Amino acid sequence: MEIIPKLDDRLKDSLYIQLYRYFKHEIEQFTFETGMRLPSIRYLADRLNVSNTTVQMAYQQLLAEGYIESRARSGYFIAELDSDFIESTVTPCTKLSSEDSSEQKEKHILYDFFMSDIDTDHFPLASWRKYANKLLNSEHKDVLKYGEYQGELGLRKALSDYLHRSRGVHCTPEQVVIASGTQSILHILYQLIRWKNKRLAMEDPGYQGVRRSLQGQDIKLVPIPVEKDGLSIREFKKVQADAVYITPSHQYPLGMVMPIAKRIQLLAWANEQESWIIEDDYDGEFRYRGKPIPSLQGIDEHSRVIYIGTFSKSLMPAIRVSYMVLPPALLETYKHLEWGQTASRLHQQTLTLFIENGEWEQHIRKMRTLYKKKQAVLLETIKSVMGEHVHVSGQNAGLHIVLHVKSNCPADTLIACAEKAGIKVYGTSSYLNQNKTSCSLPILLGFGGLSLNDIKQGIKLLHKAWLPYYKSSEQCSVTP
Ligand SMILES: Cc1ncc(COP(=O)(O)O)c(C=O)c1O
Repeated sequence: MEIIPKLDDRLKDSLYIQLYRYFKHEIEQFTFETGMRLPSIRYLADRLNVSNTTVQMAYQQLLAEGYIESRARSGYFIAELDSDFIESTVTPCTKLSSEDSSEQKEKHILYDFFMSDIDTDHFPLASWRKYANKLLNSEHKDVLKYGEYQGELGLRKALSDYLHRSRGVHCTPEQVVIASGTQSILHILYQLIRWKNKRLAMEDPGYQGVRRSLQGQDIKLVPIPVEKDGLSIREFKKVQADAVYITPSHQYPLGMVMPIAKRIQLLAWANEQESWIIEDDYDGEFRYRGKPIPSLQGIDEHSRVIYIGTFSKSLMPAIRVSYMVLPPALLETYKHLEWGQTASRLHQQTLTLFIENGEWEQHIRKMRTLYKKKQAVLLETIKSVMGEHVHVSGQNAGLHIVLHVKSNCPADTLIACAEKAGIKVYGTSSYLNQNKTSCSLPILLGFGGLSLNDIKQGIKLLHKAWLPYYKSSEQCSVTP
């Protein structure tokens, strides 16, 4: 057992109080398992370079308060704490002090449920290396020069073919534009659509990348609330937007899939208003339930949709290759921009070989099965460990799920408390346009980068950390 209290004899509190507080805190955070034997007084005093009396007094205080128990001739053991006891000793919803939060940052994170992490263990490194080497060994040294502004033609051909087969996108390679990352794509679009003083509607909560890439430009971002099935069309129609940015296949961050009826309404609006729909299909490859819904672009009969995609989820974020499919009406203007290519030519060409040899689609199939399994384990563990204290949404697609915790505490408190226990989970407040600190704000759990075992262990620890913060069962009967 690691006992690493920060004892400082310059502090006002005596060493025994500091040691007592350390144990009390760790026991309340379930760092030490119930029934675990504490080190003997002499051993601990020796390790910490303090007197036996210091340790003895700390143990006596913990004993008196019921945190530990003493067994004859065996020593001291961590006592079982019932949740009522913890509730009375831990003040729910207390903001962590600044001292706590800096300590917390230093603390090693055991399990990080980051939404943008992918599974790197199953990346086909050998194949990737083979194609990269082939390229570098080739006689054609042209690959070392600047490539095409719009992106490598081979990659654009491979993409238009793939997008048609897998996402129902109708396009020619001439309509495909490559760039380094989705924010670069949005930047090009800003130049292209000549937004000056125009209104771009976006989901609220929605992808912060849009706000970041258009910050400081002459464009008004209009947040539109999302409902159970995505963007609220009723609210959207009130704001008279010139264009709308949406993530219909897997709303970011809340995870709902927009049904076909809503898609048709949006397309009708774009056609009537001669406006643009920017469809970000960032993880459309990973759909686990329900019938596949084609992209909006694929059912658009009036060429009003600008389709955006990325290799960040389906392959790796490190490659920084994203793309868009422009409607024919925007192509001429795009050509006149003469915007330099931002994605590496070498990566684009390696990627082309990888796709042309069928490895990308094979990789997607493999990863879909793997992510589906990871998601199933995550959902099963949440159900069996957290039970009625939470409910889950957004599980039909993608690499993260949305967890609604039945608690009176704001999500920020739950996130900070999880972090203290070594678990990193993410809030949704940074995706909102308005500032809300409501208890009903959900928490995001990515699962792509964690192993099956990590997922199980992480959820168990998370549950322990949140135990004092759950609503009681009577309060829980109302679903948030
Ligand atoms: C909504 C959305 N679009 C696009 C991306 C990918 O961005 P990029 O292509 O810059 O990696 C992400 C990544 O998480 C995302 O959440």
